[in-house]
Amino acid sequence: MSKALKYTLHKKEKHTGARLGEIETPHGKIQTPVFMPVGTQATVKAVSPEELKAMSAEIILSNTYHLWLRPGDDLVKEAGGLHQFMNWDRPILTDSGGFQVFSLAKLRQIKEEGVHFRSHLDGRKLFLGPEEAIGIENNLGADIIMSFDECPDYNHDYDYVKKSIARTTRWAERGLKAHKRPDEQALFGILQGAGYKDLRLQHAKDMISLDFPGYSIGGLSVGESKEEMYGVMDYLLPVMPENKPRYLMGVGSPDALIEGVIRGVDMFDCVLPTRIARNGTTMTSNGRLVVKNAKYARDFRPIDEHCDCYTCRNYTRAYVRHLLKTDETFGLRLTSIHNLHFLTHLMADIREAIRQDQLMEFRDDFFMRYYGTKG
Ligand code: GUN
Ligand code: ZN
Repeated sequence: MSKALKYTLHKKEKHTGARLGEIETPHGKIQTPVFMPVGTQATVKAVSPEELKAMSAEIILSNTYHLWLRPGDDLVKEAGGLHQFMNWDRPILTDSGGFQVFSLAKLRQIKEEGVHFRSHLDGRKLFLGPEEAIGIENNLGADIIMSFDECPDYNHDYDYVKKSIARTTRWAERGLKAHKRPDEQALFGILQGAGYKDLRLQHAKDMISLDFPGYSIGGLSVGESKEEMYGVMDYLLPVMPENKPRYLMGVGSPDALIEGVIRGVDMFDCVLPTRIARNGTTMTSNGRLVVKNAKYARDFRPIDEHCDCYTCRNYTRAYVRHLLKTDETFGLRLTSIHNLHFLTHLMADIREAIRQDQLMEFRDDFFMRYYGTKG
């Protein structure tokens, strides 16, 4: 058992695969299922740690790749670690950089030893392999860290994906050996396999035999349909260990959060709420509301009349719209705070529905209000 992480399964919902649980880390406890706000550059864009606490955010995610490039993991270590550097004393999770190298870096060359590429910032030649990625994550000091993986496209050809998952398993083993702080940082394995059921199940089996303290599902929400994503979860979650946390990476739309929880996912992260907030789109109990639209110019109601976030308690649609139209940074702060509050509270409502064995009823009500359909 991992000294850095303890998972307690409190209950399973009666009619679905949903689980109510708790993850204990060196920086405190996390109630699951949980949504993790993304703080790529050691900050959740436009939102302060105090504001995150006020919305009951219990854990945030940050990125190895970005912090390695700027300001450098050695500098973060010198500052006392990521928690101290950014003044966040609750749990942090770092992604390994694998995914970011594949989505951002230029002129990639994937080899057995790792990935050679050029920085997306200045074209500098760089190399990241499992030892380097885990070394950086050890310096950053997050409570939960990710294995270095390759995330092949959902439709990449079968033979390539077969070789890729075998290499990702070897990278995972090398990462386990390189991990210098196993008593303080829980290293999760990432399950890949693109859209191929047999490869996904094979990779799950190989990774589970390495006995990681938790497992992530990678390679989803990368352009495949929602049905395909739910289909993968349908066969993957049942083979994942029941006594360990399960994390679906990069997923954060309300429908996918609910469908993921129903299938047994405990953790989610996504840039969606903060990214759309900065474009003037908000999530409300009645669906998306584009507060930037002209029709809200004289609307003196809060963004969401059922929301008790800082934004909705104090400001109107008309005011937030005015700030966004005049490019005032306070407008971005207000929409970001609201959207993150909406998702952290959606997860709290989901946990309550699990407690009462009412998750399917909750799902149908939510879908009706948010999307106007039963899904
Ligand atoms: N974030 C979203 N998807 C992935 C993935 O497949 N791998 C990693 N490392 N991070 C992700
Ligand atoms: Zn609000």
